[in-house]
Amino acid sequence: MKRWKSKKAKSGRFSWAGRMSQFHEQQDLPSHLAIIMDGNGRWATNRGVPRQEGHRQGVETLRQSLKDVMRAGIKCLTVFSFSSENWNRPKAEVTFLMTLLQRFIESDLAELHGQNVRVRVLGRRQGLPPKITKLIEHAESLTADNAALQLQVAFNYGAREEIADAASRLARRAVAGTLDPASITPEVFDAELLTAGLPDPDLIIRTSGEYRVSNFLLWQSAYAEFFFTETLWPDFTADDLDEALRAYAQRDRRFGGLSNQQERER
Ligand code: FPP
Repeated sequence: MKRWKSKKAKSGRFSWAGRMSQFHEQQDLPSHLAIIMDGNGRWATNRGVPRQEGHRQGVETLRQSLKDVMRAGIKCLTVFSFSSENWNRPKAEVTFLMTLLQRFIESDLAELHGQNVRVRVLGRRQGLPPKITKLIEHAESLTADNAALQLQVAFNYGAREEIADAASRLARRAVAGTLDPASITPEVFDAELLTAGLPDPDLIIRTSGEYRVSNFLLWQSAYAEFFFTETLWPDFTADDLDEALRAYAQRDRRFGGLSNQQERER
């Protein structure tokens, strides 16, 4: 079983107690953080090693980041680990990414459960190897009552597919006469999504210098704040997380309304 040793931050001044004093109030922290973990391939290429090595290191970074996120006091984390479009990659890489999820659950589930982490895998189950589907179901049922951190691993996930599937389920109920189409509100729709019951992501981090959403949480990110960093995912450390959280704490979130300052000046 892998132990969650927190990698020392780049600067060597790793202290969450110190860091957290920067965030005066709990509301300065995102209730739900989401991460697009990008750049594994380039990390490997830069080192002249196979892309798979980048993904393997990406899992190590995920382990460390889980610990850092929990220490920061964040209660909900969603990570993008395999998109609906990733099937277009070479077969060997797809197989490797499948194996990676399997190995991650096999090696880390007991530890995650011990840390009171609830694990859910968001995405279509069709098309996944049955062995992986069974493992996912086991992980989800074992950890269903855990509450320290809600961890969602988006795997075989695409936001457009998620939205289309939700629309399809609602349409079937409407056709069957059990749902009045006029009663479909954003809240009703929200409850059909894979993230039903979770807060919308407040902050979405994307690594590797790419400035795209890539079919990730399209509905849920309506008012998310974004943080983009050049850091490749395997190099992402507690310092990078800290930088993103600091930037988030400075944002003026108006949700289409006015800020407190604007209200006062009115
Ligand atoms: C994007 O990097 C990353 C992925 C497609 C896979 C993400 C997976 C992990 C971080 C490992 C964790 C996985 C599990 C299943 C727990 P890329 O390959 O697109 O990199 P590139 O843009 O540099 O080519």
